[in-house]
Amino acid sequence: MSPKLQGVFPTLRLLGVLSLLQCPSVLCDCDFPPEVAHGRHEEVIGFRVFIQNEVIYKCDEGYTLVGVAKLSCSSSHWTPAAPQCKALCPKPEIAHAKLSVNKDQYLQAANVTIQCDSGYELDGPQSITCLEDRTWYPGMPKCKWVVPESCEYVGKGRKIMQCLPNPADVKTALELYKYSLEIELLERQIEKAKKYTAESPQ
Ligand SMILES: *[C@@H]1O[C@H](CO)[C@@H](O)[C@H](O)[C@H]1NC(C)=O
Repeated sequence: MSPKLQGVFPTLRLLGVLSLLQCPSVLCDCDFPPEVAHGRHEEVIGFRVFIQNEVIYKCDEGYTLVGVAKLSCSSSHWTPAAPQCKALCPKPEIAHAKLSVNKDQYLQAANVTIQCDSGYELDGPQSITCLEDRTWYPGMPKCKWVVPESCEYVGKGRKIMQCLPNPADVKTALELYKYSLEIELLERQIEKAKKYTAESPQ
């Protein structure tokens, strides 16, 4: 070893010791930070660039962070516990319905109960839950228009009315149906009268 190199050696040694002091094992021997579903972590770049002792968590679009975002390595452990990235479900858009909870977005596991407006009947689940994949379980219900009970006696005319959600149209349909019954009755009376005339001696 050349004398010049021998002179440099203690300096290198000192640098090594210093770097060890700067990075004591309690701070530097953490494993990789925990992974979280629908999120990622980034190193916090500070003055001690060579030491990874702080990470910050960020969630994917459509997910929100629940817990503490910043973790540090202490006594070989990341503390506090890693946060969670929870799904945000879009508001269920159901025509002619009221929701038990009204929000723009709903947090994962939230339950919403659906109440159809009067005159409408639920077709599907009464209660739905926001899932991790940002969809509603078990599906999106509908509120279907139902024939008012007062119209039920109309029997035959009912079919026409099921196609007419407007009360005014229903009224017209009912009147038309009434006329058709009257015409039918008249026709039967005419038939009867003809038969009677035919049977009677001239
Ligand atoms: C939603 O309903 C389910 C099933 O009834 C229940 O397990 C869950 O705790 C409810 N979620 C909330 C946030 O209340």
